[in-house]
Amino acid sequence: MTHKVELLSGKYVFHADSHESILDAAIRAGVPLNYGCSNGNCGLCKARVVSGAIGQLRTHDFVIRDADKIQRHALMCSSSCQSDVVIDAEVVTHASDIPVQEIRIKVRKLDLVSNDLAIITLQVPRSVRLRFIAGQYVRVFDDQQRSHEYAIASCPCDEKRIEFHVRKLEDDAFSSMVFNQLRVGDWLNIQGPYGDFVVDDTKDSPIVMVAFDTGFAAIKSLLEHTTAQDKERPIYLYWLACGVEGLYADNLCRSWDDALDEMHYVPLHMSRNVNEILDSQYDGMCAIEDKFTSSLHRIDHVKNAEVFIVSPDPVGKLVQQLLIERGFQKENIYHEVIRGNPDLKCIHSTNEK
Ligand code: FES
Repeated sequence: MTHKVELLSGKYVFHADSHESILDAAIRAGVPLNYGCSNGNCGLCKARVVSGAIGQLRTHDFVIRDADKIQRHALMCSSSCQSDVVIDAEVVTHASDIPVQEIRIKVRKLDLVSNDLAIITLQVPRSVRLRFIAGQYVRVFDDQQRSHEYAIASCPCDEKRIEFHVRKLEDDAFSSMVFNQLRVGDWLNIQGPYGDFVVDDTKDSPIVMVAFDTGFAAIKSLLEHTTAQDKERPIYLYWLACGVEGLYADNLCRSWDDALDEMHYVPLHMSRNVNEILDSQYDGMCAIEDKFTSSLHRIDHVKNAEVFIVSPDPVGKLVQQLLIERGFQKENIYHEVIRGNPDLKCIHSTNEK
């Protein structure tokens, strides 16, 4: 049976099954309850039950003092709902509140989407969780234990799966390892999360997301997290890429556009290869400016939006400038360079002429 869980602050509401922990339900719903071990040892998920009935789902080693028991404190990782409940629980509001973790993680899937793009799906071990906020990145280590930064492309609500999007790069050890050696079943060491490119969940203004090429990875995580919540924030996703094949998850984006009333997808593919765009700054930037400007009328009514851009630096600066000229607020625009490939060096080219 499913029950409603409301946080005393009134900022979050989610639903939990009576057979699952309140913490599990919160994670799935994208609600950032504070927690640590998720198995009854650390006490970080302790919350006060303000109203309603809960049950103990499993025994736990962490000892709740008698005084706290009287005030109806309980561990959210070890309790389930037996009715609708209101809880006074701590939530994570800043990315810096999440401790850096180091975990060893298994490759579950390796999709070579094209000659120069791989999507790696990693499976978190059963007893472990990687805590992170959508939009953050981790350091992943190659076979020589050198670290490489990659945005997490999956949602924290999909807690057992971590996804990276990796472009084939010349002279990059991790990229070479992915395209030449890595196999399903191999293990990788990762460390994180890092970064503060995150959405403020307490706001309900529209969101504009702009991804350039594999900048889509961080944007995908933000988008999946935002849509997992019980809110209806309008989202406009612009994905700029070189050639149709640069939009490597185009079908996924179109399916979101079809399924979600509040989601609007604007694919923008350019007839230049990616290095032409970034190397010949003037012509390449003009091509981006033309493409982007011609579609900006679609967001003219949401100038109060928060804007999240993931791109190489020159593209980010250009997009910010175009949006500010259009009336968007500078303080609502956040830019992140593409992790793993900040200058977008790659062999990616287009067939579209
Ligand atoms: S998360 Fe550690 S006790 Fe619940």
